[in-house]
Amino acid sequence: MKKTIQTTSTHKKLKLFQDAEAASLFVAHQIAELIRDKEKQGKTAVLGLATGNTPKGVYQELIRLYKNEGLSFKNVISFNLDEYYPILPDDQQSYTYFMRQYLFKHVDIKEQQINIPNTDFSEKGIAQYCQDYEDKIQSLGGMDFQLLGIGRNGHIGFNEPGSDFESKTRLVNLDSLTREDAKAAFGSLDKVPEKAISVGVQTISKAKKILLLALGERKSEIMQQAINGEITTEVPASFLQSLSQAEFVLDASAARAL
Ligand code: PGA
Repeated sequence: MKKTIQTTSTHKKLKLFQDAEAASLFVAHQIAELIRDKEKQGKTAVLGLATGNTPKGVYQELIRLYKNEGLSFKNVISFNLDEYYPILPDDQQSYTYFMRQYLFKHVDIKEQQINIPNTDFSEKGIAQYCQDYEDKIQSLGGMDFQLLGIGRNGHIGFNEPGSDFESKTRLVNLDSLTREDAKAAFGSLDKVPEKAISVGVQTISKAKKILLLALGERKSEIMQQAINGEITTEVPASFLQSLSQAEFVLDASAARAL
């Protein structure tokens, strides 16, 4: 059932950049600053991380900072947003593979501090697995920072249209547009999994800082809805309008329809 909420808030915070590189550098530097601040305090930085084309530039800059500017990931604990179900961690389409390729194998993060939903098992026990993933995030005090992309249908993580604002980590059915957009990576539509494990909208909303990064023309229509449209479960990203700690980071192409 579609649900909407009203907000009187005007804090629809936007950060607009001329191109994808500038937007990605901004996000990477926010993350680096948080990691360094936490390190100075002798604390861990709990990061919620995203996959897809969008964050690649962010990860590239974080790797550069690690290699050239002494940024260490030893105090980072990471939680990825989602993973296809079922999939083997070594499959090239898996998000475990993605994270290794685009970030983890290049930096000094400790293996035991990486958390990505493991979906290499039958549906039996999955509810408990999701509960444990959720509990682990909350036992660390929740995410210090959450990085998000956005699907062309407004999804955040794999919280597809219709996802409840109170949702937590769970098994979800993938939307047809999401599967269509994943077709190129999998080779054909029938190879794209129909399900995934995703952290929930509520899980995301508890993060202390949230940046949603949107790049390119193909995200412009959904960004118009997410930022200026009604806050509705039909566009899960619109929920961020109601969160004071959330910001939308866009390049000029993604901001074209605002
Ligand atoms: P993309 O995916 O970065 O590959 O566009 C984003 C998403 O679906 O969240």
